[in-house]
Amino acid sequence: MWKFTSIFLFAFAILAILALGQTSFAFDCSEFEVDRIKFNLQSLNKTEKITQEEKTPPTITDTEYHINPCAPLTYDNDDDESKKNHCDNNTYICQIKTNYLEGRKDPRIISIKQIAGGELNPELALGPALNNDDMHGHLSMIYHGASYNDEPQQANITFICKKQGDNKITKYNYKENTLFIEWETQAACGEKIPEEDKGMSGFTKFILTLIFIGLCYFGIGAAYKYHAYKAHGWDLLPHLDFWRDVPYLVSDVFKYIVNSFRTGRGGYSRV
Ligand SMILES: *[C@@H]1O[C@H](CO)[C@@H](O)[C@H](O)[C@H]1NC(C)=O
Ligand SMILES: *[C@@H]1O[C@H](CO)[C@@H](O)[C@H](O)[C@H]1NC(C)=O
Ligand SMILES: *[C@@H]1O[C@H](CO)[C@@H](O)[C@H](O)[C@H]1NC(C)=O
Repeated sequence: MWKFTSIFLFAFAILAILALGQTSFAFDCSEFEVDRIKFNLQSLNKTEKITQEEKTPPTITDTEYHINPCAPLTYDNDDDESKKNHCDNNTYICQIKTNYLEGRKDPRIISIKQIAGGELNPELALGPALNNDDMHGHLSMIYHGASYNDEPQQANITFICKKQGDNKITKYNYKENTLFIEWETQAACGEKIPEEDKGMSGFTKFILTLIFIGLCYFGIGAAYKYHAYKAHGWDLLPHLDFWRDVPYLVSDVFKYIVNSFRTGRGGYSRV
């Protein structure tokens, strides 16, 4: 009975450690770090709208982009056009193409493309510095999560640090299912994380906490045994009988694991 309880406890501890190692990654644009540089893009949390007009005689084709790098787009209800025709909920970047005869303003929607949304899975990296304001290299963000006609779409945004002036998109170009954007903004001037608080990952903290709890347990346990039973030497260890058994328990667990592989739950069993 003891053995199965301990096997269960060990398995539980191992699962807990694995789960902690894989804490899910929800992207929050107001606080994230890349290569020890801390960024906050919250000032860009609003819809940026850009429109490109193309002459396609005898018509004109407008391509409109709605972009929010921080949150799903919301639409202005007063705007008739966007009320009826816009990207799905949970879209961060939307492309809408409309077309009309020159001189007539009765646009017809050609396509509505979600370019980034849903599970964004952002890829964040630092690239080479692109101007003198930039002390750490530009911030590159690639957003995924959308598709159009079964073709995955992505946005490849280059944020360039600009200490003065407005936030603005200086270049953009859509090709091969990717929207490239160059964005000059003060928000891209990240802050270097000081060296002192380096290297304490969640996992290290977790291990240190375990060690601390262990020390408290043995310290308080030993003090208690010393005062209550005048114990000395090894007898000071709390739950001595259990800790004596630990090496055997560990080897039992390994035997158990090895055995369950041998008896072949994995489909390679000998018949
Ligand atoms: C962005 O703005 C919206 C609405 O103003 C807010 O609900 C949301 O929490 C903001 N997101 C971030 C990451 O700042
Ligand atoms: C989108 O969100 C609105 C408001 O939250 C909701 O009424 C609508 O049903 C949603 N549409 C879809 C397709 O989920
Ligand atoms: C994103 O765009 C930059 C600049 O245009 C380019 O160098 C880089 O390779 C692109 N990344 C991906 C994954 O397409």
